[in-house]
Amino acid sequence: MNRKLRMGMVGGGTDAFIGAIHRLAAFMDNQIELACGCFSVDPEISISSGKSYFLPEDRVYKTYQEMFEKEAKLPEDERMDFVSIVTPNFVHFAPAMMALDNGFNVVIDKPITFTLDEALQLKKKLEETGLTLALTHTYSGYPAVKDAKARVANGEFGTIRRIYVEYPQGWLSSKLEDTGNPQASWRTDPKRSGKAGCMGDIGTHAHQLAEYISGLKVTELCAELNVFVPNRLLDDDGAAFMRFDNGAKGVLMATQIAAGEENAIKIRMYGEKGGLEWNQMEPNTLWLKWVDRPTEMVRVGTGQMGDTAQHNTRTPGGHPEGYLEAFANIYRNFSLTVRAKMNGQEPTADMLDFPGIEDGIRGMQFIDKVVEAGYNDDVKWISFD
Ligand SMILES: NC(=O)c1ccc[n+]([C@@H]2O[C@H](COP(=O)([O-])OP(=O)(O)OC[C@H]3O[C@@H](n4cnc5c(N)ncnc54)[C@H](O)[C@@H]3O)[C@@H](O)[C@H]2O)c1
Repeated sequence: MNRKLRMGMVGGGTDAFIGAIHRLAAFMDNQIELACGCFSVDPEISISSGKSYFLPEDRVYKTYQEMFEKEAKLPEDERMDFVSIVTPNFVHFAPAMMALDNGFNVVIDKPITFTLDEALQLKKKLEETGLTLALTHTYSGYPAVKDAKARVANGEFGTIRRIYVEYPQGWLSSKLEDTGNPQASWRTDPKRSGKAGCMGDIGTHAHQLAEYISGLKVTELCAELNVFVPNRLLDDDGAAFMRFDNGAKGVLMATQIAAGEENAIKIRMYGEKGGLEWNQMEPNTLWLKWVDRPTEMVRVGTGQMGDTAQHNTRTPGGHPEGYLEAFANIYRNFSLTVRAKMNGQEPTADMLDFPGIEDGIRGMQFIDKVVEAGYNDDVKWISFD
């Protein structure tokens, strides 16, 4: 196969936030082109968005149902290869299932579905079809994060014993949902966001980052969820103690009412020999801390990081490999995997290094457990089993 992969999109119209980021990320490495889309719940906005993205009229659809039906009937050398689903959480499962049913690969934003059961149904469908799904947990796409994961796996720090992950934002410090802000409105509405607010929106990123870098799984947690802004319907703040499957202990903090904070996700992790620290607002730096020697700073793009980080780095040292590049790493590895499979080849470990259905299921388990524990003062530990 010697062409770009053809991407369709559900959501991501001119009325949306993250869809534009997905397109920038998808196009960064010249592996993918936009072929079609149903870009909005509002058909007029879908059509005007498609026009502004210079798509032919007959590839811009009024509903995603129409899109999957019509695209599936197009000749193989015209129809899309995969769809990116960038809608609010309650519009994830149906288009994802419809895409898989019609033979299309899927990129989907987090949390993967509205309920855990839906995520399990997607897993079953993926197993039946052999199609590929990528879940855009952006933070696992950063080169320094990939280097951190490789160093933990190599045993540089010894057995991991302690993990701290924090994700403070401040943008929901006031009742933004009452001002008509669309992103705030659905995120604070249980019918559209799901059973968690802040924990579903950004707690899932923190949880995935901790499991991704450590290679460990949370087995139990104890949590407190808070609704600080009066009359808000879902948590806007919370914290969890976590127990991992190797005996390590962790603390996760996620909040959207930390007034003045931007997007300060940060992780620290310690074994018996040393530890690491990474902060996404300083993304090219990974700190390595040692019991028996001074703290080291290793930097992206300098040759100080390993092969996996290098595979996910585009620019020489000193140029921040930021949010868009991290997002693009998910798209590139996904597209390399899909292309290899289309060509009858076995994808390499570097190609397969993107979050997928298992991360999605773990995320939905995390949401279930953190909500179950978060308002319960009687039971201390809730198990993931
Ligand atoms: N990975 C990340 O870092 C990250 C960041 C932000 C948002 N997200 C996730 O991305 C998703 C979208 O978030 P957002 O902030 O862009 O939301 P948004 O409200 O800005 O945009 C949602 C888009 O989906 C469209 N839409 C809704 N229902 C539709 C339907 N039935 N058919 C077609 N289009 C439909 C809307 O018209 C809009 O274009 C959410 O799941 C969110 O959790 C992920």
